Amino acid sequence: MDDLVQDYARLTSLAQFQLPSASPGAFNRVQDTLLNEILLDPHFRVYPPAPEYQLRFWKWTIQGLEALIDDEDTEIDARIYDRLVELIQSTPNSQLATRDSAPPSPSYITHYLRLCPETPNAIHRVTLLESRTTVEQGTTGLKTWPAAHALARWLGKHPERVKGKRVLELGSGVGYLGLVVAAIQLDTPEQEKSEPSIWLTDVNNVVLSRCRDNLDLSCNASARHRRLRLRQLDWFSALDADRISSVRGLMAEADPDVILGADIVYDPSIIPPLIATLHLAISANKSAGRYPVSALLALTVRRPETSRRFLDAAEEVFIITTLDITTEEIELGQNDGHSGQEIIIIQLDMKD
Ligand SMILES: C[S@@+](CC[C@H](N)C(=O)[O-])C[C@H]1O[C@@H](n2cnc3c(N)ncnc32)[C@H](O)[C@@H]1O
Repeated sequence: MDDLVQDYARLTSLAQFQLPSASPGAFNRVQDTLLNEILLDPHFRVYPPAPEYQLRFWKWTIQGLEALIDDEDTEIDARIYDRLVELIQSTPNSQLATRDSAPPSPSYITHYLRLCPETPNAIHRVTLLESRTTVEQGTTGLKTWPAAHALARWLGKHPERVKGKRVLELGSGVGYLGLVVAAIQLDTPEQEKSEPSIWLTDVNNVVLSRCRDNLDLSCNASARHRRLRLRQLDWFSALDADRISSVRGLMAEADPDVILGADIVYDPSIIPPLIATLHLAISANKSAGRYPVSALLALTVRRPETSRRFLDAAEEVFIITTLDITTEEIELGQNDGHSGQEIIIIQLDMKD
């Protein structure tokens, strides 16, 4: 039943849902989960999936429950029908048509993650308002990309890489990785004492604004994190004589121990500025003698020649280590928007 709740929370395609087959008690078990863990759950009341998704979900659910009824006295709870009617009345026709025509509306998406190998049964919840199209308002930054899921899960297995650390993220998008790092850093009270920090950066104002909203959602650990900053940073500034001092200033303030980036290598034109930005970030606290500083980047290999170009350029300045990630470690699936493209996680360290 946990799967049903988690699939609803991350807007899994209904084609992938499965209810248990008819058996004694199945109807009551499924209906109780639907009522108590979804319909009446306070989290989903405040952070619900998009209305058109809910509408499809409850229609499917009612059909599924009907198939589980095994005696004539059993009835579907009226609150489920009421919810369906409410959704039909409140969802504009334009949104109902989204499946085939207009893009789907942005939605709250809740992800459940295991973030600490020592407490494998503890599940953390991270919620974001995200777009559900690859490019919206001219940016790719309004949705979470599979590489961010991969790096988040990898960090969940290796929390020591960010616990108690000063973290800087480049191209943060809507903030998923930052939300996960905040949850890892606040996982134990002692972490607060080591004064970990998170600096999230992106170039796009709309993306930054959506990211701010997500960081502030009271259900997320980020809302309780006392040293979480969000800043505008354009990698091209690192190659611009008039703007480079602002990048240096930001790096000095963030003073990172570790730099993160997910799906930030997708266009050959950004490779030189991104390498220059990574160089400034990795060498930011060199004078303070706090080496080594590493960057952990999750790359989606869409066009092998673009990834190769980035790796060749990076190799001139950094030592590159490709981390050994197993499929089980990152468990990517269609729900994460993963369509089978290769994702690699690399570590960059400064050459001496
Ligand atoms: C494909 S999205 C990845 C977002 C997020 N890291 C994730 O994986 O979900 C790429 C991000 O890089 C940001 N970006 C693109 N060009 C940039 C630049 N010149 N400087 C800083 N950020 C940039 C975009 O705004 C966008 O948020």
